[in-house]
Amino acid sequence: MVKIKKIKILRNFDSRGQEVVKIGICDQNDHWFFSCPGSGKSKGKKEVISKDFQEIDFDLISKLEGKAFSSLNDLENELFALDGSPDKSKIGGNIFLALSLSFARAFAWSEGLELWEVLKHEYKLDFPQKLPLIFSNVINGGAHVENNLDIQEYMVVLKYKGPETVRELVNFYRSLGDFLREKYSIRILPIGDESGYALDFENNLLPLVYMKNVKDKFSYDFEFALDCAANYFYHRDGHYFFETQKLNSLELTQVYLSYKEKIPELNFIEDPFQEEDFEGFRELKVTQKFKIIGDDLTVTNPQITKDILEKNLIDGIIIKANQVGSLRETFETIKLAKEKNLLVIISHRSGETEDPFLIHIAKACEADALKIGVPIKERVSKFNELVRIYGES
Ligand code: PGA
Ligand code: ZN
Repeated sequence: MVKIKKIKILRNFDSRGQEVVKIGICDQNDHWFFSCPGSGKSKGKKEVISKDFQEIDFDLISKLEGKAFSSLNDLENELFALDGSPDKSKIGGNIFLALSLSFARAFAWSEGLELWEVLKHEYKLDFPQKLPLIFSNVINGGAHVENNLDIQEYMVVLKYKGPETVRELVNFYRSLGDFLREKYSIRILPIGDESGYALDFENNLLPLVYMKNVKDKFSYDFEFALDCAANYFYHRDGHYFFETQKLNSLELTQVYLSYKEKIPELNFIEDPFQEEDFEGFRELKVTQKFKIIGDDLTVTNPQITKDILEKNLIDGIIIKANQVGSLRETFETIKLAKEKNLLVIISHRSGETEDPFLIHIAKACEADALKIGVPIKERVSKFNELVRIYGES
């Protein structure tokens, strides 16, 4: 049982310098517990509503003060009742999630447990232990930077085995930087919202070619992944605008297949089509050339994910708790995906804070993978929590 004595609502800032909301909960022993989820820029249309500080209904949230809850479900039942909207627009999806997380932290403290242990117990998650794959975004494009790449994220993928994996990633990132500096004769490389390199390239394939050069030169055992975030280069007239050309989904499929022919280590492709282009997803899926990952397509929403799973469009799913706002719904979506043997990838947002809660979500459900950027600058708190929670083995 945790009693919420008081709630603090604070203005904080994410890695883009944009305001985000941090929520503090004070328990019956006067301990404070805080949470501060990051924020997205290339969002799916069906994500819950996120509220800025000045839009918050403080009176509504203060109704929780003085109340005691015996579990996370108990608290979220109250939040759902207070909100009463289909998109969490009264409380705000970001506030809903931060309240749940801060409460979960208070609850974990009262029980002498880690956050992930509370989540695992609360949502009855009993999956075998597993070391996750790391998806690390080394070249940035799309909505995350003002360069000419249509594709948003160029990632390397490797299995986490301990701090040496983080070291390996840093080394690769530095070698790729050296390679690009030399290739383009520039001393300082621009970087994007997720701290990947963000210069202009002659086309969207070239970053993969350069990543492969560096991988082969130093014998890294990596796979590659793209997040196309295709909502960004889809236009309402029904075409994709890709490298100044108008393409339909069949033509875009051919582009992706040609990439695979040139870069065999390209095994994963996220949001290759806009979120309503089911036909595009279907066409690429039948080729069986990639593991297709849904993000804007599924937005961590259990109902939407159920529909998409019935259509058999994806092999993996991105999980971002703040797309849906509730921890219970986040884990419902995870369970649905696990039942279908999908690759479950727990992801950060492009605007991040120091809060590493997503590592606990991953550990609670023994996720297949983590998408947490490069292990430097604003992204480092996730890697350091990963090392703490998953150990040094
Ligand atoms: P976002 O994008 O955090 O800016 O929404 C990340 C992604 O598309 O995976
Ligand atoms: Zn994405």
